[in-house]
Amino acid sequence: MAKYKIAVLPGDGIGKDVMDAAMIVLDKLNLDAEYTYGDVGWEFWKKEGNPLPDRTIELLKESDACLFGAITSKPKDDAQRELAPELQGKGYVYYSPIVKLRQLFDLYINLRPAKAYEGNPLVIKEGIDLVIFRENTEGMYAGVEFYPLPDDVREVFLKHSKNMERFKDVPADEIAVSTRITTRRGMYRIIKAAFEYAKKHGRKKVTLVEKPNVLRETGGLTVRVAREIAKEYPDIEYEEANVDAMAMWLVKKPEEYDVLVAENLFGDIISDLASQLIGGLGFAAAGNIGDNFGLFEPTHGSAPKYAGQYKVNPIAMILATKLMLDYLGEVEMGQRVEKAVAEVIKEGKVRTYDMGGTASTLDVARAIAERL
Ligand code: NAI
Ligand code: MG
Repeated sequence: MAKYKIAVLPGDGIGKDVMDAAMIVLDKLNLDAEYTYGDVGWEFWKKEGNPLPDRTIELLKESDACLFGAITSKPKDDAQRELAPELQGKGYVYYSPIVKLRQLFDLYINLRPAKAYEGNPLVIKEGIDLVIFRENTEGMYAGVEFYPLPDDVREVFLKHSKNMERFKDVPADEIAVSTRITTRRGMYRIIKAAFEYAKKHGRKKVTLVEKPNVLRETGGLTVRVAREIAKEYPDIEYEEANVDAMAMWLVKKPEEYDVLVAENLFGDIISDLASQLIGGLGFAAAGNIGDNFGLFEPTHGSAPKYAGQYKVNPIAMILATKLMLDYLGEVEMGQRVEKAVAEVIKEGKVRTYDMGGTASTLDVARAIAERL
């Protein structure tokens, strides 16, 4: 029996292209793993009314980790329209498979490295090498939202907050409320993970990205938890930054940051900002990690206009496999992958269109595999 069981979910569009590329690299590595392909995405929504069939969830439960390509999703009405005729009107509702998987497996860490590889013409600023820990399960994306605003909810807000007075007469269907939910446990585990990562990888500094001067209660709780944890790591510098200032500093002096940790929404925004600084979607990989499972993906979507053309950049997906290798404890293999990626970028001979080249997705993967 193989040492690892890996679930492979290519998904839709270029998800399949980049997954083929990643497998070229993994095959060359000779990782002692059994790869099992699973179904996810738009095709299965249309045919089965479920973009994440139960058999796929079972497959993940039996696996050590998952490689995920990308999926197509569409607005509610379009999704309902594209459902197979025999499934119409039967109450099927589209949901995002990736959000569902994060919840189902409690994948509370969204790990987003952003590194400027030497010689990458798309890099905005040299020297960037930061790692973002984004909380993945609560905060502004907890999903506790109201529209129209129920009277009893408004009453409770009025009772407990003077600031609600200003909104007391707004008609229910003219006011929507999304709440930011922060728990001590939720923030503790993500901030702890960020510090542990810093310690393990010899990182010097952890920056908490928040806005506690305005979001006093949720931000305040987060800051208290972070300061408590920081005390346990005297060798790692700890600092706090407001999210708006952070957006500015990330553009101005990104090379000064090391490990960043943030709640869901702030983390989402700063990670997309950071990925653009280092070359864009073709280079941005993410790990979704919990205590018992990890799912690794490029952060781009299915780019339908390039589907099946093997034109897009596979580097984000290949760096996602590097994150998976780290997660599995195969750190040396992960380093080899990253080194090979860096060499191919620096050499500049085999490049996809986004980097100004004409190589195919698979050419880039082969070039990387050759250097392993
Ligand atoms: P997208 O990320 O699929 O593509 C946007 C554009 O970025 C592409 O047209 C292409 O020009 C460029 N691009 C993306 N990946 C690239 C790569 N590897 N190499 C070179 N260029 C690349 O975003 P879009 O067009 O907004 O969404 C398309 C579909 O993907 C939608 O259905 C959306 O819902 C879904 N999506 C899925 C995600 C996921 O699976 N995690 C994440 C984001 C979007
Ligand atoms: Mg995003």
